[in-house]
Amino acid sequence: MATEDSFGPLPNRGKTPTDQENSPPHILSPFKFASFELSHRVVLAPVTRCRALDHVPQPAHVKFYSQRTTPGGFLISEAAAVAKDGIGFPNSPGIFSAEQVEGWRKVVDAVHEKGGIIFCQLWHVGRASHTVYQPEGKAPVSSTDKAIVDGWSILMPDGTRGEYSKPRALEISEIPGIVNQFRQAARNAMLAGFDGVEIHGAHGYLVDQFLKNGINDRTDEYGGSIENRCRFALEVLRAVSEEIGGSRTAIRLSPIIDHMGATDTNPVALGLYLVQRLNELPEPLAYLHITEPRFTREGLKEEDEAEEEDEKMKKRKLCSLLRQTFKGAFMSSGGFNKDTAIAAIASGKADMISFGRLFISNPDLPRRFALQVKLTKYDRSTFYCSDQVKGYTDYPNFTSPRQAQFPVFSPSNSFNSVSSPTSFPNPRQAQLPVFSPSNSFNSASSPTSSSAPAK
Ligand code: PHB
Repeated sequence: MATEDSFGPLPNRGKTPTDQENSPPHILSPFKFASFELSHRVVLAPVTRCRALDHVPQPAHVKFYSQRTTPGGFLISEAAAVAKDGIGFPNSPGIFSAEQVEGWRKVVDAVHEKGGIIFCQLWHVGRASHTVYQPEGKAPVSSTDKAIVDGWSILMPDGTRGEYSKPRALEISEIPGIVNQFRQAARNAMLAGFDGVEIHGAHGYLVDQFLKNGINDRTDEYGGSIENRCRFALEVLRAVSEEIGGSRTAIRLSPIIDHMGATDTNPVALGLYLVQRLNELPEPLAYLHITEPRFTREGLKEEDEAEEEDEKMKKRKLCSLLRQTFKGAFMSSGGFNKDTAIAAIASGKADMISFGRLFISNPDLPRRFALQVKLTKYDRSTFYCSDQVKGYTDYPNFTSPRQAQFPVFSPSNSFNSVSSPTSFPNPRQAQLPVFSPSNSFNSASSPTSSSAPAK
């Protein structure tokens, strides 16, 4: 069981009334945020997989996401680029063309058919790119003109590693256009049928490139003070929630993760300031997703992950502080296993936990947790290849003739029994609200066009 830290007791927040009346929350107990009723809290984290040939989701994506869907389960898509110049991985998807929206629609339909709930993660990689991915081979854009250095390398289209290209700092006059790309992409996500979007504000990509003073060296109103560095993130959030509704809008942040040089001299002050501003947005957000220090960067091996324990402890304290500060549903991610996830949920440090690596190699991860069976180890070498099957949809579900006899977690308000070896127990399928845009795909180009979602 996790213990309280020096920031004091954690609030009894974010729990369903049923939770509060009955037993402590568990990763396999229900949770409600916005209008979504989850049957459990084991979330598919956004995982970049490079299978979207020509940046378009494929039939393989339909299978991948469908395999990981449980009734009332919550999934976050891999990051989808909001524009062509937001791409920085080979065969990573976008959500800026009609063809991409159609590809995503098939994914979303398959997830909904199984009773799942799915948000689309939206990103612009900013300087985490190469001219080879950019329209007309131009320089990637960022908050800065400093390249990512210090040993970081980019995955090139041919599978080799290259150097990140030197970016061009965005002119102040160009920023509204980028904000509008996020707005448009959110709208496209609604047209594809997604239940909401998560803005990727973490891990050294464009939003984080504005947030962190280890990268952002601007002297205009988007750089310098914390307030100025948070301006871009907040503008994106306001635009997106205005477009699709705050209850369908979420953000992922990683104030303490220095991926691709995303360092900050005062991550506590930065994280706190930003989360306080999130609380003041015109409409409450669906949730806040924070990456914990166990996050492993691309290309790193587990044995390289060791970090001074007290360093990690300091960072965990910041995560707890953000949890205490944010007035809404809170998701944690970053190297959790079943036990640490159970402890985090039981102690109130998070309402939901997202799993990347474990969910990649265990499509039936929530069920495996329920059955308390061994997990399949992931094969890191296939994470970023573009094979449509290998390392993608070929990880097996757990099967055993004896599986119905395994002990299961059974709080009174959750899974009561494993009634069938092949079905997920006790689904509490969400009543999925339907987005009903009044306009067509193409009419969404105006920054001020707005279609309110069905509430
Ligand atoms: C991310 O989407 O945050 C991400 C993607 C690929 C990586 C690391 C992080 O290697």
